[in-house]
Amino acid sequence: MISRPKAGEAKSIQKLINLYANNGLLPLSLHEIYERIRDFFIYKIESKIVGAASLHIIWEDLAEFRSLAVQADYRHQGIGKALVMSALDEARDLQLKKVFLLTNQKEYFEKMGFQLIDKSELPHKVWSDCIKCIKFPDCDEVAMILKL
Ligand SMILES: CC(C)(COP(=O)(O)OP(=O)(O)OC[C@H]1O[C@@H](n2cnc3c(N)ncnc32)[C@H](O)[C@@H]1OP(=O)(O)O)[C@@H](O)C(=O)NCCC(=O)NCCS
Repeated sequence: MISRPKAGEAKSIQKLINLYANNGLLPLSLHEIYERIRDFFIYKIESKIVGAASLHIIWEDLAEFRSLAVQADYRHQGIGKALVMSALDEARDLQLKKVFLLTNQKEYFEKMGFQLIDKSELPHKVWSDCIKCIKFPDCDEVAMILKL
């Protein structure tokens, strides 16, 4: 079931995300998670966090969807999709117009309605995260956007 995390759940979120650090997801420090704890959605099964994702507002019309992770044993049950949909619902509530993301899972997000865009269309602020990535500048991710 989807909920918003308590501050005390940051460590569990970090553990989940960092399973895929530099292999689909940018690693996050605990400090970064606490700072953005209100961006996160979590999916719990019997009080265990098995999925997480975040929606970070960039500008009046734009947000970034980040850090989607579902624990391997719980894949293909619709948990990832439920997290994406919750983030998009919130983006609509906030009257944002577009949500973008960077991913190496193009087909997955195409199913959710995201479309490929050129990275140069993304705001410069995004590059402050990219330069932290060990793969930078040889990025294996594509940029995608969904118009709400
Ligand atoms: C990508 C990820 C979040 C998918 O989570 P999930 O809970 O297994 O996905 P869902 O069960 O919600 O799948 C939803 C749909 O996408 C399909 N799908 C699942 N994984 C897919 C993939 N890797 N590529 C394409 N389609 C995929 C499912 O079959 C399902 O289709 P359906 O609705 O027609 O049945 C999960 O594999 C993961 O955590 N990967 C590692 C981290 C990562 O790469 N995150 C994304 C980077 S931004």
